[in-house]
Amino acid sequence: MEDWRPEDYLRFSDERSRPARDLLARIPLKAPELVYDLGCGPGNSTALLREAYPRAKLVGLDNSPTMLARARKDLPQVKFREADIATWPGDPNADLLYANASFQWVPDHVSVLLRLLRGLKAGGVLALQMPDNLAEPSHRLMRETAKSGPFAKALRHAAGSREVIRTPNEYYTLLKPHCRSLDIWHTAYYHILDGVQGIVDFVSTTGLRPFLDPLDDTTRGQFVDAYRANLAKAYPAVPDGKVILRFPRLFLVAQV
Ligand SMILES: C[S@@+](CC[C@H](N)C(=O)[O-])C[C@H]1O[C@@H](n2cnc3c(N)ncnc32)[C@H](O)[C@@H]1O
Repeated sequence: MEDWRPEDYLRFSDERSRPARDLLARIPLKAPELVYDLGCGPGNSTALLREAYPRAKLVGLDNSPTMLARARKDLPQVKFREADIATWPGDPNADLLYANASFQWVPDHVSVLLRLLRGLKAGGVLALQMPDNLAEPSHRLMRETAKSGPFAKALRHAAGSREVIRTPNEYYTLLKPHCRSLDIWHTAYYHILDGVQGIVDFVSTTGLRPFLDPLDDTTRGQFVDAYRANLAKAYPAVPDGKVILRFPRLFLVAQV
C-alpha cells in the first residue's frame, strides 16, 4: 500500500480521537512511568497520552514514515520510532502499551497481543481499540463494488488487507489466561457527515486505502463513483442533508 496521508487522516480528528479518549479513561493506572503508543499515527493519540500522563516517558511507534514525520512535527518533545508492531519485541519496563486503531492492520494480531502480554511486567497494561466495521455497509460495499467493473482484477486481493475482528468471547478466551483482569466493551459511534461524499472522505484515508492504492487515476475515479452510488442507497440523507455513519469499535484493556 502507499503511505498514509496524515493531513487527510486528521480531517476527522475529533471522530478518530474520541475512541482514543474513551480507551484512555478505562486504563487502571494513575502514573505510569513508561508508555508506548503502538501505531501512533500522526501523534493524535500520543498527544492524549501526554496530557493524561505528563510525567511519563512516552514513546510513539509506527511503521509509516509520513505519519511519524507529522507526529514529530506536532510533538517535538516526544520520542517517535519507526517500527513494525508485528515484530517489535516489547519492553519489559513498560507500564502501558496503548494502541488506538492500529491492531486491525497487524496480521495475526492475536499472536502479537499474546506475545506482548507475556512480555509485560506485573501490573502492566495493554490497552487497545479496533474498528469492528467490516460488516457495516460502508465496508461491505467496498468489497461488493470491487467485484465487478474495470477495477475488479486489480482489486481481487484488496479485501484481505484488514484483520478480521473476533468476538468478545473469543478475545476473553484467548487473552484472559495471560492477564489478571480483562475489560472488554463494544461501542457504536454515529458520525454525522456531509452526505455520502463525507463517508467516502472518512474511509478513504483508512479502510478504503487497500481499494484505492492498487488503481490508476482513471479506474480509481470509476471505483469511487460506483462505491458512492452504492453508499447512497445504504445511507439515505436525514432531513438536514447529512448522513449518519454507524461505526462500531471493540475495546480491550488487559492488566497482567
Ligand atoms: C488508523 S491509524 C491510528 C492512529 C492513531 N493511533 C489514532 O488514534 O488515530 C493506524 C496507524 O497504525 C499504523 N500501523 C498499521 N500497521 C502497523 C504496524 N504493523 N506497525 C506499526 N504501525 C502500524 C499506521 O501506519 C497508522 O499510522
